[in-house]
Amino acid sequence: MPKLIVTTLDGNVQELDGTAGLTVMEVIRDGGIDELLALCGGCCSCATCHVYVDPAFADLLPAMSEDENDLLDSSGQRNERSRLSCQIPFKEALDGMKVTVAPED
Ligand code: FES
Repeated sequence: MPKLIVTTLDGNVQELDGTAGLTVMEVIRDGGIDELLALCGGCCSCATCHVYVDPAFADLLPAMSEDENDLLDSSGQRNERSRLSCQIPFKEALDGMKVTVAPED
């Protein structure tokens, strides 16, 4: 089972069992981390599933859509590692990927 390694807002690191076919947001939520609000449920319309992704995995991620880019632009916490976790399908190739929950705006 591929692992997703999540750093929460308080700096704790948790290793979650990921299921291929879920999104990174769903893996985090199903892993019991409730600080990722994901208010829109994955429809790419809220930006409350904002994470920072390990740059080592950047090439394995799907390209960012215009909608995702626009939503991230609305966040004051955006940086070059920002992604919306509901827009990243989790898969075996992402085993060991580290993500950090971004602070709320
Ligand atoms: S859950 Fe709303 S944009 Fe990802």
